[in-house]
Parts: sequence; C-alpha cells; structure tokens
Amino acid sequence: MQLSVKLPESDRARTKNRVENYWKTNFIADVPHFNALADQKHMFGEGRARIIFFGLSDNTMSGHILEFVSGSYKKTHRHGPGAHIIILSGSGFSLVWPEGGEGSRVDWKPGVIISPPDMWYHQHFATGKDPARHLALRWGSLEYPGVTNWRKYQENFGEQIEYEDEDPAIRETFARECRANGVEVRMDPVVYRTRK
Ligand SMILES: [Fe+2]
Repeated sequence: MQLSVKLPESDRARTKNRVENYWKTNFIADVPHFNALADQKHMFGEGRARIIFFGLSDNTMSGHILEFVSGSYKKTHRHGPGAHIIILSGSGFSLVWPEGGEGSRVDWKPGVIISPPDMWYHQHFATGKDPARHLALRWGSLEYPGVTNWRKYQENFGEQIEYEDEDPAIRETFARECRANGVEVRMDPVVYRTRK
C-alpha cells in the first residue's frame, strides 16, 4: 500500500506543506530497479534526486531508496545510530565525521555498507557517470517511531546543514573529483552565508 504522508510543519519554511511518499509493504521484489520514486528537493537541489520511504512488515523497521543524478551531492545531516546505507549502484563516496572531529571517507562500490555512528554528520557524493542509488535501512517507522522518532527526524531532516552553510571546501573537493572523472557538476550555484 502506498501512502502520501503530509509531514508535520516546523518553523523552517522548507518543510511547509511537505508530502513524502511512504510505502507500507512486507516485500520489495527488486530494490535495484524499484522505480516508484518521487522527487526529493529538500535534501538536494530541485530535480536532482528521487526517493521512496518504506514501512516494513508493520513493525519498527523502516528505510528508503534514494537515487540521485551524476554530478550531485546530498546535504549533510546527522541523527541517531543504526542506519545502514547499502550502495546499490553508481560511484562516488561518502564522508562521515563527528562534530569538531576528524572523520573518514568511504569510497563506493555496489555492496558497500555505511553505518554512521551516533550523531556523526554524513554526506553522499555522486562523482561517477551513472546515477547513484542506495538503500537505507533503519529503526523507526511511521507507525512505530521508536527512539529515532521518524516524524521528529523528518521535521528538520536530521539537523541538516544547507549548502549555503557548509564548508566551501566540500564543494571544491566534489567538483575537482567530478572533473577528474569527466563528469559534469549538476549543482545550483551557491552563495555562502557567514559561518559562525
Ligand atoms: Fe542519514
């Protein structure tokens, strides 16, 4: 059963009237090719990414399939522990780091699993020529939110950092890697706000 779920509004304007597609199921026949994805503009620029959220088998397990275009990257965010991100296709890398600390880079190939530790920032970069697709599995469904409250998480996208507020070195590194791979950068121009 597929539901369109209106998410709670927060004081952040971008969540106003936001609706996500949420699929209640106990079986997904073909995750790599599942195509009932909907545009997702809040975690990317417009037209860069598509997503479907899942509630699995009427229990606490949840997840999503996310696909984003070559030459794009997701905004940074963080949340509680336990999410497992399984790389299905595309090439690129993820960065994971604790606030104020040193992190690490994980290069992708299909089958790689990334599980960011509790409240570590993480960010995903598609620097290859094909679209990037991953499956994320985690605790906290819409029906049974658990401690990683799905609704609460959705209100602010997991303390998401907007492109305008991120370290400019992130985009520079990304663009350099795209160039090295002969990949066009498909990101909207950014004007950085003063960082605190
Ligand atoms: Fe995440």
